[in-house]
Amino acid sequence: MSKYIVRNNGPLKGQINISGSKNAVLPLMAASLLTSEKCEIYDTPALRDVDVMCSILRRIGGNVQFDKESNCVEIETQEIIYNGADTELASRMRASILVMGPLLARTGRATIALPGGCAIGARPIDLHLKGFEAMGVKIWEKHQDGFDYVEAEVDKLKGCDIYLDFPSVGATENLMTTAVLAEGITTIQNAAEEPEIVDLANFLNKMGARVKGAGTDTIRIEGVKTLHGTRHNVIPDRIETGTFMLAAAITRGSIRLNNAVASHVKPLTAKLRECGAEVVEEDDAIIVNAEGKKLVSTNLKTLPYPGFPTDLQSPFMSLLITTEGRGTVIETVFENRFMHIAELQKMGAQIDYSDRKAVITGNKNLRGAAVKATDLRAGAALVLAGLAAEGTTQVEQVYYIERGYENFVEKMSSVGADIEYIE
Ligand code: UD1
Repeated sequence: MSKYIVRNNGPLKGQINISGSKNAVLPLMAASLLTSEKCEIYDTPALRDVDVMCSILRRIGGNVQFDKESNCVEIETQEIIYNGADTELASRMRASILVMGPLLARTGRATIALPGGCAIGARPIDLHLKGFEAMGVKIWEKHQDGFDYVEAEVDKLKGCDIYLDFPSVGATENLMTTAVLAEGITTIQNAAEEPEIVDLANFLNKMGARVKGAGTDTIRIEGVKTLHGTRHNVIPDRIETGTFMLAAAITRGSIRLNNAVASHVKPLTAKLRECGAEVVEEDDAIIVNAEGKKLVSTNLKTLPYPGFPTDLQSPFMSLLITTEGRGTVIETVFENRFMHIAELQKMGAQIDYSDRKAVITGNKNLRGAAVKATDLRAGAALVLAGLAAEGTTQVEQVYYIERGYENFVEKMSSVGADIEYIE
C-alpha cells in the first residue's frame, strides 16, 4: 500500500501554481452529457476522481479523451448507450450521482447505484431525489445483488419551484443540470452558493442554457430545447489553495500561490489573519507569510459557502495544534468529520472533542508517528502536521490524497518540503 514519508524541513518557501478545481470539473464533465456535441474542458486536474468520471462517461457512451499533459478533457457523447452508473464505478466516487440529472434531462431515464455512506458521514441523496420528483420524475429504490440502486424515469421534465432543506452542493448541481432542458422555469431556493456552482452555471450558459442567480441562494433556470458543445476553463481549486496556504502557516514559511482566487478563500484568509499570519491578495495570486511570526489560536465553525469550508477544517486543525492558546472547531456540515483527531493525537496533539465540537490546546510539539489518511482532506491535514513535527511521519492510505490533489508530492517538494512517496 502506498504511503508518504514526511519530515520537518523547516519553513516552506517559494511558489506553487494552483490546479483546476476537482469539485468544479466533476459536475462540468457530467453536464457534457446534455449535448451530443463535443465539450472541451481546460485546466482539468489529473486526479483519480477525474479518471473515475472519465470511466463513468465512457460507460454511458461518451468518447472521452483526457490529455493529462495539457490538462484538457474532450467529451463527445453522440449516443447514450447506458443510462446510469454501475456499482463498480459508483462505489469508487460519490460524485457519480452527478450524472443522474444530465441523463434524466437527455433521455428521461437513469439508474444509479448508491455508494452508501463514507468515512465523513451518511451523505444521503434525499434532496436530489425530492427535487427530481418535483420536476415530474418517478423514482424507485431497488436492492439487487447486494447493492442499492435508484431508478428514475420521466416523460417530460417540468420546471417548478424547489426549496432545498439544506444548501447541498451536489443537489444544487444535479437539479441545475436537469432543469436546463425542462419545460418552463425552475427556481432553486436555498441553493448552494459555492464558486463551483457559478462555474457550472457559466459552463451551462455557454452550452446555450439560461441560468441566472448562481452564486446567490436563488437560482432561476429557464429551460431550453437543446444544448450545444462548448469550451471552458475550470476555476482554480480553492481547497488546494487553502491547503497550501496552511502549509505556509504551519511551517512558519512563506508561499506565493499563483492562479489562486482570493475571493474564494476569504474565510480562511480571515482566520489566518486572526492567527497572526500575513496574507496578501493579488489579482490572481495569494501570498501567505508566517516567517518569524508567533501565531495564536482562533475559533471556527464550518458552514456552507461563503462560510468556512468543511474541506479545510482538518488542515486548519493541524495548524491550531501549533499555535499559542486554545482554539475551538465546530463542524456543522458533515456529522462525522473528526476521524483525523485520533490520528493527530498519535502525533502528540491535545484535542478534546465530543459530537461536532473539538477543543485544541495549542503550542504542542508534534512528533512523527505512523498515521492513516481517513479521507482526502484528513490526509492533507496529516501531511501538514508531519511538516511541523519532530522526527518522521508515515502517512498511510495516501490514495485518498491522490483523489484530490494534483502532483501533491512534487508541489510540496518544490517549496522545500521533505516528502517522499513510497509505493
Ligand atoms: C461537495 C464536495 C465536498 C464538500 C461538500 C460540502 C464535490 C464533488 N464534493 O460534496 O468536497 O465537502 O460539497 O462543501 O463537490 N445532504 C443531505 N441530503 C442530500 C444531500 C446532502 O442530507 O440529498 C447533506 C450531506 O449528508 C452533508 C451536507 O448535506 O451532511 C452537505 O452535503 P453536500 O453539500 O451535498 O456535499 P456534496 O455535494 O456531497
